[in-house]
Amino acid sequence: MKVCCIGAGYVGGPTCAVMALKCPDIVITLVDKSSERIAQWNSDKLPIYEPGLDEVVKKCRNVNLFFSTDIETAIKDADLIFISVNTPTKISGNGKGRAADLKYVESAARMIAEIAQSNKIVVEKSTVPVRAAESIMHILRANQKPGIHYDILSNPEFLAEGTAINDLLNADRVLIGGEETPEGHQAVEKLSWIYEHWIPKKHILTTNTWSSELSKLAANAFLAQRISSINSLSAVCEATGADVSEVARAVGLDSRIGSKFLQASVGFGGSCFQKDILNLIYICENLNLPEVAAYWQQVIDMNDYQKRRFSQKIIESLFNTVSDKRIAILGFAFKKNTGDTRETAAITVCQTLLEEGAKLDIYDPKVEPEQIIDDLTHPSVTESPENVKKAVQIHSDPYSAVRSTHALVVCTEWDEFVDLDYTRIYQSMMKPAYIFDGRKILDHERLQQIGFHVQTIGKKYQRTGLLRSWGIVPQL
Ligand code: NAD
Ligand code: UDX
Repeated sequence: MKVCCIGAGYVGGPTCAVMALKCPDIVITLVDKSSERIAQWNSDKLPIYEPGLDEVVKKCRNVNLFFSTDIETAIKDADLIFISVNTPTKISGNGKGRAADLKYVESAARMIAEIAQSNKIVVEKSTVPVRAAESIMHILRANQKPGIHYDILSNPEFLAEGTAINDLLNADRVLIGGEETPEGHQAVEKLSWIYEHWIPKKHILTTNTWSSELSKLAANAFLAQRISSINSLSAVCEATGADVSEVARAVGLDSRIGSKFLQASVGFGGSCFQKDILNLIYICENLNLPEVAAYWQQVIDMNDYQKRRFSQKIIESLFNTVSDKRIAILGFAFKKNTGDTRETAAITVCQTLLEEGAKLDIYDPKVEPEQIIDDLTHPSVTESPENVKKAVQIHSDPYSAVRSTHALVVCTEWDEFVDLDYTRIYQSMMKPAYIFDGRKILDHERLQQIGFHVQTIGKKYQRTGLLRSWGIVPQL
Protein backbone atom coordinates (compact mmCIF):
# COMPACT_ATOMS: atom_id res chain seq x y z
CA MET A 1 0.00 0.00 0.00
CA LYS A 2 1.17 3.53 -0.76
CA VAL A 3 0.16 6.34 1.56
CA CYS A 4 0.46 10.08 1.06
CA CYS A 5 -0.02 12.69 3.77
CA ILE A 6 -0.67 16.31 2.80
CA GLY A 7 0.60 18.66 5.54
CA ALA A 8 3.97 18.01 7.23
CA GLY A 9 3.27 19.78 10.53
CA TYR A 10 2.93 18.85 14.20
CA VAL A 11 0.41 16.14 13.33
CA GLY A 12 1.47 14.96 9.86
CA GLY A 13 5.16 14.59 10.83
CA PRO A 14 4.94 12.46 14.01
CA THR A 15 1.91 10.48 12.74
CA CYS A 16 3.61 9.42 9.51
CA ALA A 17 6.90 8.74 11.29
CA VAL A 18 5.25 6.31 13.73
CA MET A 19 3.16 4.75 10.96
CA ALA A 20 6.31 4.16 8.90
CA LEU A 21 8.10 2.67 11.93
CA LYS A 22 5.28 0.24 12.63
CA CYS A 23 4.35 -0.59 9.01
CA PRO A 24 7.52 -1.54 7.08
CA ASP A 25 5.25 -2.92 4.33
CA ILE A 26 3.79 0.54 3.61
CA VAL A 27 5.53 3.37 1.75
CA ILE A 28 4.59 6.78 3.13
CA THR A 29 5.26 10.11 1.44
CA LEU A 30 4.70 13.25 3.47
CA VAL A 31 4.22 16.34 1.30
CA ASP A 32 3.93 20.02 2.07
CA LYS A 33 3.64 23.19 0.04
CA SER A 34 6.38 24.72 2.20
CA SER A 35 9.71 23.73 0.65
CA GLU A 36 11.47 25.10 3.75
CA ARG A 37 9.58 22.70 6.01
CA ILE A 38 10.29 19.73 3.75
CA ALA A 39 13.99 20.65 3.61
CA GLN A 40 14.03 20.68 7.43
CA TRP A 41 12.34 17.26 7.58
CA ASN A 42 15.12 16.01 5.28
CA SER A 43 17.85 17.58 7.45
CA ASP A 44 19.39 16.84 10.85
CA LYS A 45 17.36 19.63 12.50
CA LEU A 46 13.69 18.69 12.18
CA PRO A 47 11.16 21.56 11.97
CA ILE A 48 9.50 20.59 15.26
CA TYR A 49 10.86 19.48 18.61
CA GLU A 50 9.15 16.38 19.93
CA PRO A 51 10.84 13.91 22.32
CA GLY A 52 11.70 10.66 20.51
CA LEU A 53 10.84 11.98 17.04
CA ASP A 54 14.43 12.32 15.79
CA GLU A 55 15.16 8.65 16.42
CA VAL A 56 12.01 7.43 14.64
CA VAL A 57 12.60 9.70 11.63
CA LYS A 58 16.25 8.63 11.38
CA LYS A 59 15.21 4.96 11.30
CA CYS A 60 12.58 5.33 8.58
CA ARG A 61 13.61 8.29 6.43
CA ASN A 62 14.38 7.25 2.84
CA VAL A 63 13.53 3.64 3.78
CA ASN A 64 9.72 3.71 3.74
CA LEU A 65 9.21 7.35 4.79
CA PHE A 66 9.81 10.16 2.31
CA PHE A 67 9.46 13.94 2.64
CA SER A 68 8.74 15.77 -0.59
CA THR A 69 7.35 18.90 -2.23
CA ASP A 70 6.29 16.86 -5.26
CA ILE A 71 2.66 16.78 -4.20
CA GLU A 72 1.46 15.71 -7.65
CA THR A 73 3.46 12.47 -7.84
CA ALA A 74 2.67 11.57 -4.22
CA ILE A 75 -1.08 11.98 -4.80
CA LYS A 76 -0.96 10.12 -8.12
CA ASP A 77 0.86 7.13 -6.59
CA ALA A 78 -1.11 6.85 -3.33
CA ASP A 79 -3.93 4.44 -2.51
CA LEU A 80 -4.76 6.34 0.65
CA ILE A 81 -4.28 10.07 1.30
CA PHE A 82 -4.34 11.77 4.71
CA ILE A 83 -5.27 15.45 4.75
CA SER A 84 -3.39 16.86 7.74
CA VAL A 85 -3.28 20.56 6.93
CA ASN A 86 -3.92 23.38 9.39
CA THR A 87 -7.50 24.50 10.14
CA PRO A 88 -6.99 27.80 12.01
CA THR A 89 -9.75 30.07 13.29
CA LYS A 90 -11.01 32.40 10.53
CA ILE A 91 -9.60 35.91 10.88
CA SER A 92 -11.99 37.60 8.46
CA GLY A 93 -15.36 37.15 6.78
CA ASN A 94 -18.25 34.99 7.88
CA GLY A 95 -17.63 33.39 11.27
CA LYS A 96 -14.52 35.57 11.85
CA GLY A 97 -12.89 34.77 15.20
CA ARG A 98 -14.85 31.55 15.68
CA ALA A 99 -15.36 29.31 12.63
CA ALA A 100 -12.56 27.03 11.44
CA ASP A 101 -10.97 28.21 8.21
CA LEU A 102 -11.24 25.27 5.84
CA LYS A 103 -9.42 26.89 2.92
CA TYR A 104 -6.38 24.61 3.27
CA VAL A 105 -8.54 21.49 3.51
CA GLU A 106 -10.50 22.62 0.47
CA SER A 107 -7.36 23.32 -1.54
CA ALA A 108 -5.99 19.86 -0.63
CA ALA A 109 -9.27 18.27 -1.78
CA ARG A 110 -9.17 20.23 -5.04
CA MET A 111 -5.57 19.12 -5.68
CA ILE A 112 -6.59 15.48 -5.18
CA ALA A 113 -9.55 15.89 -7.56
CA GLU A 114 -7.34 17.46 -10.18
CA ILE A 115 -4.45 15.01 -9.97
CA ALA A 116 -5.96 11.61 -9.12
CA GLN A 117 -5.97 9.02 -11.92
CA SER A 118 -7.08 6.04 -9.81
CA ASN A 119 -9.35 5.24 -6.84
CA LYS A 120 -8.41 6.96 -3.57
CA ILE A 121 -9.35 6.70 0.06
CA VAL A 122 -9.20 10.26 1.38
CA VAL A 123 -8.77 10.52 5.15
CA GLU A 124 -9.62 13.71 7.00
CA LYS A 125 -6.99 13.85 9.76
CA SER A 126 -7.22 17.62 10.34
CA THR A 127 -9.70 18.74 13.01
CA VAL A 128 -12.77 20.01 11.18
CA PRO A 129 -16.38 21.03 11.87
CA VAL A 130 -19.10 18.39 11.76
CA ARG A 131 -20.04 17.55 8.18
CA ALA A 132 -16.74 18.77 6.69
CA ALA A 133 -16.24 15.32 5.15
CA GLU A 134 -19.44 15.94 3.24
CA SER A 135 -17.96 19.13 1.76
CA ILE A 136 -14.79 17.29 0.76
CA MET A 137 -16.94 14.64 -0.86
CA HIS A 138 -18.86 17.30 -2.81
CA ILE A 139 -15.63 18.79 -4.17
CA LEU A 140 -14.20 15.39 -5.12
CA ARG A 141 -17.38 14.05 -6.69
CA ALA A 142 -18.13 17.28 -8.57
CA ASN A 143 -14.69 17.01 -10.19
CA GLN A 144 -14.67 13.22 -10.53
CA LYS A 145 -13.04 11.75 -13.64
CA PRO A 146 -14.79 8.72 -15.21
CA GLY A 147 -13.88 5.41 -13.57
CA ILE A 148 -12.36 6.97 -10.43
CA HIS A 149 -13.99 6.29 -7.07
CA TYR A 150 -13.40 8.19 -3.82
CA ASP A 151 -14.09 7.13 -0.25
CA ILE A 152 -13.91 9.74 2.49
CA LEU A 153 -13.07 8.82 6.08
CA SER A 154 -12.77 10.87 9.23
CA ASN A 155 -9.80 9.88 11.42
CA PRO A 156 -9.17 12.69 13.92
CA GLU A 157 -5.86 12.80 15.75
CA PHE A 158 -5.72 12.85 19.57
CA LEU A 159 -1.96 13.23 20.12
CA ALA A 160 -0.76 15.96 22.47
CA GLU A 161 2.42 17.87 21.72
CA GLY A 162 5.39 16.99 23.89
CA THR A 163 4.16 13.39 24.21
CA ALA A 164 3.19 12.81 20.56
CA ILE A 165 5.34 9.72 19.93
CA ASN A 166 4.13 7.94 23.05
CA ASP A 167 0.53 9.01 22.36
CA LEU A 168 0.75 7.60 18.84
CA LEU A 169 2.44 4.36 19.91
CA ASN A 170 0.00 3.76 22.78
CA ALA A 171 -3.16 5.51 21.64
CA ASP A 172 -6.11 5.20 24.05
CA ARG A 173 -8.20 4.78 20.93
CA VAL A 174 -8.10 5.31 17.19
CA LEU A 175 -11.32 6.73 15.84
CA ILE A 176 -12.44 6.05 12.27
CA GLY A 177 -15.65 7.48 10.88
CA GLY A 178 -16.95 6.31 7.53
CA GLU A 179 -19.98 6.14 5.30
CA GLU A 180 -22.50 3.45 6.13
CA THR A 181 -22.29 1.74 2.73
CA PRO A 182 -20.46 -1.43 1.63
CA GLU A 183 -17.71 0.73 -0.01
CA GLY A 184 -17.56 2.88 3.13
CA HIS A 185 -17.09 -0.22 5.31
CA GLN A 186 -14.32 -1.49 3.03
CA ALA A 187 -12.49 1.83 3.25
CA VAL A 188 -12.76 1.76 7.06
CA GLU A 189 -11.33 -1.79 7.02
CA LYS A 190 -8.34 -0.65 4.95
CA LEU A 191 -7.47 2.22 7.28
CA SER A 192 -8.08 0.01 10.30
CA TRP A 193 -5.63 -2.55 8.82
CA ILE A 194 -2.87 0.10 8.90
CA TYR A 195 -3.44 0.87 12.60
CA GLU A 196 -3.76 -2.82 13.48
CA HIS A 197 -0.01 -3.12 12.80
CA TRP A 198 0.45 -1.77 16.36
CA ILE A 199 -2.88 -0.81 17.96
CA PRO A 200 -5.03 -3.62 19.45
CA LYS A 201 -8.20 -3.98 17.39
CA LYS A 202 -10.39 -3.39 20.46
CA HIS A 203 -8.94 0.15 20.65
CA ILE A 204 -9.97 0.96 17.09
CA LEU A 205 -13.39 2.54 17.24
CA THR A 206 -15.56 2.92 14.17
CA THR A 207 -18.48 5.33 13.99
CA ASN A 208 -20.38 7.28 11.40
CA THR A 209 -18.47 10.20 9.91
CA TRP A 210 -20.31 12.95 11.76
CA SER A 211 -19.93 11.32 15.19
CA SER A 212 -16.22 10.99 14.52
CA GLU A 213 -15.88 14.66 13.55
CA LEU A 214 -17.88 15.83 16.58
CA SER A 215 -16.06 13.50 18.99
CA LYS A 216 -12.77 15.28 18.27
CA LEU A 217 -14.21 18.70 19.10
CA ALA A 218 -15.98 17.21 22.14
CA ALA A 219 -12.81 15.58 23.52
CA ASN A 220 -10.86 18.85 23.34
CA ALA A 221 -13.77 20.79 24.84
CA PHE A 222 -13.99 18.35 27.78
CA LEU A 223 -10.25 18.49 28.44
CA ALA A 224 -10.15 22.29 28.34
CA GLN A 225 -13.25 22.47 30.51
CA ARG A 226 -11.47 20.56 33.28
CA ILE A 227 -8.61 23.06 33.24
CA SER A 228 -10.98 26.02 33.33
CA SER A 229 -12.90 24.38 36.18
CA ILE A 230 -9.82 23.89 38.35
CA ASN A 231 -8.53 27.36 37.39
CA SER A 232 -11.83 28.91 38.48
CA LEU A 233 -11.37 27.20 41.84
CA SER A 234 -7.79 28.46 42.04
CA ALA A 235 -9.21 31.99 42.35
CA VAL A 236 -11.46 30.82 45.20
CA CYS A 237 -8.44 29.21 46.90
CA GLU A 238 -6.40 32.40 46.73
CA ALA A 239 -9.28 34.33 48.27
CA THR A 240 -9.96 31.86 51.07
CA GLY A 241 -6.73 30.16 52.13
CA ALA A 242 -7.57 26.80 50.55
CA ASP A 243 -4.87 25.17 48.41
CA VAL A 244 -5.88 24.23 44.86
CA SER A 245 -3.40 21.31 44.72
CA GLU A 246 -5.05 19.77 47.77
CA VAL A 247 -8.50 20.40 46.31
CA ALA A 248 -7.47 18.86 42.95
CA ARG A 249 -6.07 15.80 44.73
CA ALA A 250 -9.17 15.31 46.85
CA VAL A 251 -11.50 15.76 43.90
CA GLY A 252 -9.40 13.69 41.48
CA LEU A 253 -9.26 10.66 43.78
CA ASP A 254 -12.95 10.15 43.07
CA SER A 255 -12.67 7.47 40.38
CA ARG A 256 -15.66 8.99 38.58
CA ILE A 257 -13.70 12.22 38.17
CA GLY A 258 -10.08 11.03 37.81
CA SER A 259 -6.90 12.95 38.51
CA LYS A 260 -5.70 13.95 35.03
CA PHE A 261 -6.00 17.47 33.62
CA LEU A 262 -6.64 19.04 37.01
CA GLN A 263 -3.38 20.97 37.18
CA ALA A 264 -4.22 24.62 37.84
CA SER A 265 -2.04 26.91 35.74
CA VAL A 266 -1.57 30.34 34.23
CA GLY A 267 -4.05 29.15 31.57
CA PHE A 268 -4.16 26.62 28.78
CA GLY A 269 -2.54 27.37 25.43
CA GLY A 270 -1.74 25.46 22.26
CA SER A 271 -3.12 25.49 18.78
CA CYS A 272 -6.10 23.25 19.52
CA PHE A 273 -8.18 23.94 22.65
CA GLN A 274 -9.28 27.51 21.98
CA LYS A 275 -9.64 27.00 18.21
CA ASP A 276 -11.71 23.84 18.55
CA ILE A 277 -14.00 25.23 21.27
CA LEU A 278 -14.58 28.39 19.20
CA ASN A 279 -15.45 26.12 16.30
CA LEU A 280 -17.89 24.17 18.50
CA ILE A 281 -19.46 27.44 19.66
CA TYR A 282 -19.87 28.59 16.06
CA ILE A 283 -21.53 25.31 15.11
CA CYS A 284 -23.93 25.61 18.08
CA GLU A 285 -24.84 29.18 17.17
CA ASN A 286 -25.54 28.11 13.60
CA LEU A 287 -27.70 25.27 14.84
CA ASN A 288 -29.65 27.83 16.89
CA LEU A 289 -28.44 26.36 20.20
CA PRO A 290 -27.42 29.59 22.01
CA GLU A 291 -27.46 28.03 25.51
CA VAL A 292 -25.01 25.33 24.42
CA ALA A 293 -22.80 27.94 22.74
CA ALA A 294 -22.82 30.09 25.93
CA TYR A 295 -21.90 27.07 28.04
CA TRP A 296 -18.70 26.35 26.05
CA GLN A 297 -17.87 30.06 25.70
CA GLN A 298 -17.40 30.11 29.48
CA VAL A 299 -14.45 27.70 29.18
CA ILE A 300 -12.62 30.24 27.03
CA ASP A 301 -13.71 33.23 29.11
CA MET A 302 -12.40 31.55 32.26
CA ASN A 303 -9.07 30.87 30.54
CA ASP A 304 -8.77 34.52 29.47
CA TYR A 305 -9.63 35.56 33.04
CA GLN A 306 -6.93 33.28 34.43
CA LYS A 307 -4.23 34.66 32.11
CA ARG A 308 -5.24 38.25 32.94
CA ARG A 309 -5.54 37.52 36.66
CA PHE A 310 -2.03 36.07 36.85
CA SER A 311 -0.55 38.98 34.87
CA GLN A 312 -2.30 41.52 37.10
CA LYS A 313 -1.09 39.74 40.22
CA ILE A 314 2.51 40.28 39.08
CA ILE A 315 1.96 44.01 38.64
CA GLU A 316 0.07 44.46 41.91
CA SER A 317 2.71 42.55 43.86
CA LEU A 318 5.49 44.69 42.43
CA PHE A 319 4.01 47.75 44.18
CA ASN A 320 1.59 48.37 41.30
CA THR A 321 4.26 49.43 38.86
CA VAL A 322 6.60 47.49 36.62
CA SER A 323 7.64 50.50 34.57
CA ASP A 324 11.35 50.10 33.71
CA LYS A 325 11.62 47.07 36.00
CA ARG A 326 13.38 44.05 34.55
CA ILE A 327 11.40 40.83 34.75
CA ALA A 328 12.68 37.38 33.80
CA ILE A 329 10.28 35.09 31.95
CA LEU A 330 11.21 31.42 32.28
CA GLY A 331 9.46 29.41 29.59
CA PHE A 332 7.64 30.69 26.53
CA ALA A 333 6.25 27.47 24.96
CA PHE A 334 2.60 26.63 25.67
CA LYS A 335 3.70 23.54 27.61
CA LYS A 336 6.93 21.66 28.32
CA ASN A 337 8.72 19.43 25.78
CA THR A 338 7.66 21.44 22.76
CA GLY A 339 8.97 24.51 20.97
CA ASP A 340 5.42 25.46 19.93
CA THR A 341 4.19 28.87 21.09
CA ARG A 342 0.75 28.95 19.47
CA GLU A 343 -1.72 30.56 21.93
CA THR A 344 0.83 30.26 24.74
CA ALA A 345 -0.20 32.01 27.98
CA ALA A 346 3.31 33.53 28.02
CA ILE A 347 2.25 35.89 25.22
CA THR A 348 -0.54 37.38 27.36
CA VAL A 349 1.76 37.70 30.39
CA CYS A 350 4.51 39.38 28.34
CA GLN A 351 2.06 41.61 26.51
CA THR A 352 0.56 42.89 29.79
CA LEU A 353 3.98 43.53 31.33
CA LEU A 354 5.28 45.27 28.21
CA GLU A 355 2.20 47.52 28.08
CA GLU A 356 3.04 48.54 31.66
CA GLY A 357 6.58 49.49 30.62
CA ALA A 358 8.54 46.46 31.89
CA LYS A 359 11.77 45.19 30.33
CA LEU A 360 11.70 41.44 29.73
CA ASP A 361 14.51 38.88 29.83
CA ILE A 362 13.14 35.69 28.30
CA TYR A 363 14.55 32.18 28.36
CA ASP A 364 13.02 29.00 26.89
CA PRO A 365 15.07 25.85 26.21
CA LYS A 366 13.39 25.03 22.89
CA VAL A 367 11.64 28.07 21.43
CA GLU A 368 13.67 29.85 18.73
CA PRO A 369 14.46 33.51 19.63
CA GLU A 370 12.98 34.73 16.30
CA GLN A 371 9.70 32.98 17.20
CA ILE A 372 9.46 34.86 20.52
CA ILE A 373 10.10 38.19 18.80
CA ASP A 374 7.57 37.34 16.03
CA ASP A 375 4.94 36.48 18.65
CA LEU A 376 5.49 39.62 20.73
CA THR A 377 5.63 41.99 17.76
CA HIS A 378 2.55 40.55 16.06
CA PRO A 379 -0.03 43.28 15.26
CA SER A 380 -2.55 41.55 17.56
CA VAL A 381 -0.08 41.98 20.47
CA THR A 382 1.43 45.44 19.96
CA GLU A 383 1.11 48.58 17.90
CA SER A 384 4.79 49.43 18.45
CA PRO A 385 6.95 46.47 17.43
CA GLU A 386 10.12 48.57 17.56
CA ASN A 387 9.53 49.42 21.24
CA VAL A 388 8.90 45.76 21.99
CA LYS A 389 12.17 44.78 20.33
CA LYS A 390 13.99 47.33 22.50
CA ALA A 391 12.32 46.08 25.69
CA VAL A 392 12.86 42.34 25.14
CA GLN A 393 16.07 40.40 25.47
CA ILE A 394 16.21 36.69 24.68
CA HIS A 395 18.73 34.57 26.60
CA SER A 396 20.23 31.16 25.95
CA ASP A 397 20.83 30.52 29.64
CA PRO A 398 18.41 30.89 32.59
CA TYR A 399 21.02 32.38 34.93
CA SER A 400 21.80 35.19 32.50
CA ALA A 401 18.04 35.83 32.05
CA VAL A 402 17.42 36.36 35.78
CA ARG A 403 20.48 38.54 36.51
CA SER A 404 19.53 41.98 37.96
CA THR A 405 15.80 41.37 37.50
CA HIS A 406 13.15 42.34 40.05
CA ALA A 407 11.03 39.26 39.45
CA LEU A 408 11.10 35.84 37.87
CA VAL A 409 7.95 34.48 36.24
CA VAL A 410 7.56 30.78 35.38
CA CYS A 411 5.26 30.46 32.36
CA THR A 412 6.12 26.91 31.20
CA GLU A 413 6.61 23.83 33.38
CA TRP A 414 10.01 22.77 31.93
CA ASP A 415 11.62 20.15 34.23
CA GLU A 416 14.95 22.01 34.18
CA PHE A 417 13.39 24.97 36.04
CA VAL A 418 12.80 22.77 39.10
CA ASP A 419 16.50 22.02 39.52
CA LEU A 420 17.96 25.51 39.04
CA ASP A 421 20.23 26.89 41.78
CA TYR A 422 17.77 29.32 43.36
CA THR A 423 20.25 30.54 45.97
CA ARG A 424 22.52 31.67 43.14
CA ILE A 425 19.53 33.18 41.34
CA TYR A 426 18.43 35.04 44.50
CA GLN A 427 21.90 36.50 44.94
CA SER A 428 21.94 37.80 41.37
CA MET A 429 18.51 39.46 41.52
CA MET A 430 17.33 42.87 42.77
CA LYS A 431 15.78 42.89 46.26
CA PRO A 432 13.10 42.28 47.28
CA ALA A 433 13.21 39.36 44.83
CA TYR A 434 9.92 37.93 43.61
CA ILE A 435 8.98 34.60 42.04
CA PHE A 436 5.64 34.11 40.31
CA ASP A 437 5.18 30.42 39.67
CA GLY A 438 2.47 30.13 37.01
CA ARG A 439 2.90 26.36 36.82
CA LYS A 440 3.16 25.35 40.48
CA ILE A 441 6.35 23.37 39.88
CA LEU A 442 8.79 24.97 42.33
CA ASP A 443 9.43 24.24 46.00
CA HIS A 444 7.82 27.34 47.46
CA GLU A 445 8.77 26.69 51.09
CA ARG A 446 12.42 26.42 50.12
CA LEU A 447 12.25 29.56 47.97
CA GLN A 448 10.79 31.49 50.90
CA GLN A 449 13.58 30.23 53.12
CA ILE A 450 16.10 31.56 50.60
CA GLY A 451 14.40 34.95 50.85
CA PHE A 452 12.12 35.11 47.83
CA HIS A 453 8.68 36.59 47.95
CA VAL A 454 6.60 33.84 46.29
CA GLN A 455 3.26 34.00 44.54
CA THR A 456 1.61 31.13 42.72
CA ILE A 457 -1.73 29.93 41.39
CA GLY A 458 -4.37 28.73 43.82
CA LYS A 459 -2.49 29.28 47.08
CA LYS A 460 -1.98 32.45 49.01
CA TYR A 461 1.41 32.88 50.67
CA GLN A 462 2.09 35.30 53.44
CA ARG A 463 4.68 37.89 52.52
CA THR A 464 7.37 35.86 54.31
CA GLY A 465 9.98 36.42 51.63
CA LEU A 466 9.43 40.14 51.86
CA LEU A 467 9.48 40.14 55.66
CA ARG A 468 12.73 38.15 55.64
CA SER A 469 14.31 40.55 53.20
CA TRP A 470 13.45 43.28 55.73
CA GLY A 471 15.12 41.25 58.50
CA ILE A 472 11.87 40.03 60.09
CA VAL A 473 11.62 36.25 60.52
CA PRO A 474 7.95 35.24 60.73
CA GLN A 475 6.76 32.61 63.22
CA LEU A 476 5.67 29.46 61.34
P1 NAD B 1 0.71 22.77 11.19
O1 NAD B 1 0.43 24.18 10.89
O2 NAD B 1 1.85 22.40 12.06
O3 NAD B 1 0.92 21.95 9.81
C1 NAD B 1 0.08 22.07 8.72
C2 NAD B 1 0.94 21.97 7.44
O4 NAD B 1 0.06 21.90 6.32
C3 NAD B 1 1.83 23.20 7.21
O5 NAD B 1 3.18 22.79 7.11
C4 NAD B 1 1.32 23.79 5.88
O6 NAD B 1 2.36 24.33 5.06
C5 NAD B 1 0.70 22.57 5.23
N1 NAD B 1 -0.30 22.86 4.20
C6 NAD B 1 -1.40 23.66 4.29
N2 NAD B 1 -2.11 23.62 3.15
C7 NAD B 1 -1.44 22.79 2.31
C8 NAD B 1 -1.69 22.34 0.98
N3 NAD B 1 -2.77 22.71 0.31
N4 NAD B 1 -0.79 21.50 0.43
C9 NAD B 1 0.31 21.08 1.10
N5 NAD B 1 0.57 21.46 2.37
C10 NAD B 1 -0.30 22.30 2.97
O7 NAD B 1 -0.64 22.16 11.77
P2 NAD B 1 -0.80 20.95 12.82
O8 NAD B 1 -0.55 21.44 14.20
O9 NAD B 1 -0.04 19.77 12.31
O10 NAD B 1 -2.37 20.67 12.71
C11 NAD B 1 -2.92 20.05 11.57
C12 NAD B 1 -4.36 19.68 11.89
O11 NAD B 1 -4.39 18.70 12.94
C13 NAD B 1 -5.23 20.84 12.38
O12 NAD B 1 -6.54 20.66 11.90
C14 NAD B 1 -5.22 20.66 13.90
O13 NAD B 1 -6.36 21.18 14.51
C15 NAD B 1 -5.19 19.16 14.04
N6 NAD B 1 -4.56 18.66 15.28
C16 NAD B 1 -3.43 19.25 15.78
C17 NAD B 1 -2.84 18.73 16.93
C18 NAD B 1 -1.59 19.35 17.50
O14 NAD B 1 -1.19 18.95 18.57
N7 NAD B 1 -0.94 20.29 16.83
C19 NAD B 1 -3.39 17.61 17.55
C20 NAD B 1 -4.53 17.02 17.01
C21 NAD B 1 -5.10 17.56 15.87
C1 UDX C 1 -4.49 18.84 23.17
C2 UDX C 1 -5.17 17.51 23.52
O1 UDX C 1 -4.69 17.05 24.79
C3 UDX C 1 -4.90 16.47 22.44
O2 UDX C 1 -5.61 15.27 22.72
C4 UDX C 1 -5.35 17.04 21.11
O3 UDX C 1 -5.09 16.11 20.07
C5 UDX C 1 -4.67 18.36 20.81
O4 UDX C 1 -4.93 19.28 21.89
P1 UDX C 1 -2.02 19.80 23.33
O5 UDX C 1 -2.68 21.11 23.16
O6 UDX C 1 -0.87 19.44 22.46
O7 UDX C 1 -3.09 18.62 23.17
O8 UDX C 1 -1.49 19.67 24.85
P2 UDX C 1 -2.23 19.42 26.26
O9 UDX C 1 -1.39 18.50 27.04
O10 UDX C 1 -3.64 19.04 26.10
O11 UDX C 1 -2.14 20.85 26.96
C6 UDX C 1 -2.87 21.95 26.49
C7 UDX C 1 -2.68 23.12 27.43
O12 UDX C 1 -3.33 22.89 28.68
C8 UDX C 1 -1.22 23.42 27.78
O13 UDX C 1 -1.01 24.80 27.82
C9 UDX C 1 -1.05 22.81 29.14
O14 UDX C 1 -0.03 23.39 29.89
C10 UDX C 1 -2.42 23.11 29.74
N1 UDX C 1 -2.78 22.21 30.85
C11 UDX C 1 -2.91 20.87 30.64
C12 UDX C 1 -3.06 22.75 32.11
O15 UDX C 1 -2.97 23.96 32.30
N2 UDX C 1 -3.44 21.91 33.13
C13 UDX C 1 -3.58 20.56 32.94
O16 UDX C 1 -3.94 19.88 33.90
C14 UDX C 1 -3.30 20.03 31.66
